Amino acid sequence: MGKVVVLDHPLIQHKLTYIRDKNTGTKELRELVDEVAMLMAFEITRDLPLTDITVETPIQQAKTKVLAGKKIGLIPILRAGLGMVDGMLNLIPAAKVGHVGLYRDPETLKPVEYYIKLPSDISERELIVIDPMLATGGSANDAIESLKKRGAKKIRLMCLVAAPEGVELIEKNHPDVDIYLGALDEGLNDHGYIVPGIGDAGDRLFGTK
Ligand code: PRP
Ligand code: URA
Repeated sequence: MGKVVVLDHPLIQHKLTYIRDKNTGTKELRELVDEVAMLMAFEITRDLPLTDITVETPIQQAKTKVLAGKKIGLIPILRAGLGMVDGMLNLIPAAKVGHVGLYRDPETLKPVEYYIKLPSDISERELIVIDPMLATGGSANDAIESLKKRGAKKIRLMCLVAAPEGVELIEKNHPDVDIYLGALDEGLNDHGYIVPGIGDAGDRLFGTK
């Protein structure tokens, strides 16, 4: 079974409060999501492996460390996942970015894939699937399946807010995937929205309501 980690750093929790607030407007919301994504990236990269190298400092030779092992790929789920990409790239600027386009059919709540474009070497990369919301889990589940079908071997999922239903679906179908969250909320309402949640992440981030 994969890990489920709630990243409860005080700065993440503080900023998430203002992301939840319905009176927070688009500009401020984008900035907050960007900042939280960066903080979450900092937390979830703690276990990246390092390798020893030697550099010349102005004083003398130093045995020091650089990142080793797998390179990273960020996979935002369109649209709302886009809001978290730049914040993560601030910390991991060499990451490649693949896109999976999915929308939730408002009637069935089932995800419909409309776009996919990935780095050619996804099988060699540590992939981080990014979406602010993990509600029923259908979208993240389908995105992860799509990636695995195309050769992905190592996948993590990072979401701002999740419902237990979404976490359970990913744990059941993808026990190899670790899940990193800003918060684990109470559940879903009749329209499949996370309660208390943040509302419609895509509409709020892009001002399309
Ligand atoms: C939202 C959200 C997730 C999905 C979560 O996207 O960004 O991708 O719903 O719901 P689920 O876990 O029940 O699948 P939406 O379909 O609203 O599309 P958008 O990002 O284009 O607004
Ligand atoms: N998608 C959203 O944008 N918000 C939710 O609460 C659930 C799905």
